[in-house]
Amino acid sequence: VSNVLVDSFGRQHTYLRISLTERCNLRCLYCMPAEGTELTPSPQLLSQNEIVRLANLFVSSGVNKIRLTGGEPTVRKDIDDICLQLSHLKGLKTLAMTTNGITLANKLPRLKECGLTLVNISLDTLVPAKFEFMTRRRGHERVLNSIDAAIELGYSPVKVNCVVMRGFNDDEICDFVELTREKPINVRFIEFMPFDGNVWNSKKLVPYSEMMDIVVRSGKVLQRIQDHPTETAKNFRIDGHQGTVSFITSMTEHFCAGCNRLRLLADGNFKVCLFGPSEVSLRDPLRNGADDTELEAIIEAAIKRKKAAHAGMFDLAKTPNRPMIHICG
Ligand code: GTP
Ligand code: 5AD
Ligand code: SF4
Repeated sequence: VSNVLVDSFGRQHTYLRISLTERCNLRCLYCMPAEGTELTPSPQLLSQNEIVRLANLFVSSGVNKIRLTGGEPTVRKDIDDICLQLSHLKGLKTLAMTTNGITLANKLPRLKECGLTLVNISLDTLVPAKFEFMTRRRGHERVLNSIDAAIELGYSPVKVNCVVMRGFNDDEICDFVELTREKPINVRFIEFMPFDGNVWNSKKLVPYSEMMDIVVRSGKVLQRIQDHPTETAKNFRIDGHQGTVSFITSMTEHFCAGCNRLRLLADGNFKVCLFGPSEVSLRDPLRNGADDTELEAIIEAAIKRKKAAHAGMFDLAKTPNRPMIHICG
């Protein structure tokens, strides 16, 4: 494996998140402003061929896991084809997707045939009316159906991402934990992070320690499962539960030291950290005829500039960035 994907702190980047679109069929409060965001004109978005060409370059440099995100990746019409082509990249072990689950139940059998190996589905509430408030759209039942469809198709573990916001869904933590008793899912409670145009403020952040207190006070005994050093989540099992529970503590206990993640945005920008404005275009050199060696040099230089960690929970909200919907989750 070459040195292209190693940063100046020795972190080896083997996980590429690719945003396939800036569009979404929901309007989640924590992700984007009510009025939506300014969309990049479609000629400036990466085509399927461009995505595959760049993904191939990353995989040949050492990436072994690709996650498709967005926006909502399933709104892209050529999603099946993209999966099929990416799944054939030599050296790729995992082809994953993070989706809101709105249209997933219908699409998943075909996506599985096209080589999709893992799915993470977002679900922030078990109450239909709250779902409408949170996402500014309907579709709660469709998401629940998609989670069941993923289980039935043999996806394991099916991860359910739950962004916890004080005063909104922090009263449902125990209900989500209870869901893992009968369902073989991994519920992941995520600390609410600030992005441009979302409704973040420090009061809405429910810290990991507080979420943990809520679960423990309910009488549940959580047993830590040793997680992989590059994982975003701290994972726990509970006696008698088929599923597991995790916490993603980006704000109060960041996991930057083990970061192995890179991001390719729908407009062809390359982003080495979720936070901060630093981005470099791969689309422009690609369209100007750059060969693989030239593209690798641009990628390597950006990775070598990656910081040790994000700005820290008190400065993150002041760090310029783009709305979450543009930056691959
Ligand atoms: P797995 O590959 O299944 O472990 O999923 P993942 O956690 O890498 O990805 P997912 O899209 O499910 O994201 C879950 C949460 O983790 C979201 O809130 C993401 O914003 C957050 N997340 C993903 N990658 C990073 C990262 O590199 N840094 C930080 N701080 N948060 C991240
Ligand atoms: N804070 C934490 N997680 C977020 N996500 C979207 N916006 C935020 C935020 N502000 C999560 C979604 C999705 C994943 C890609 O990122 O719930 O599951
Ligand atoms: Fe990696 Fe940046 Fe996320 Fe830290 S905040 S884990 S460095 S992407």
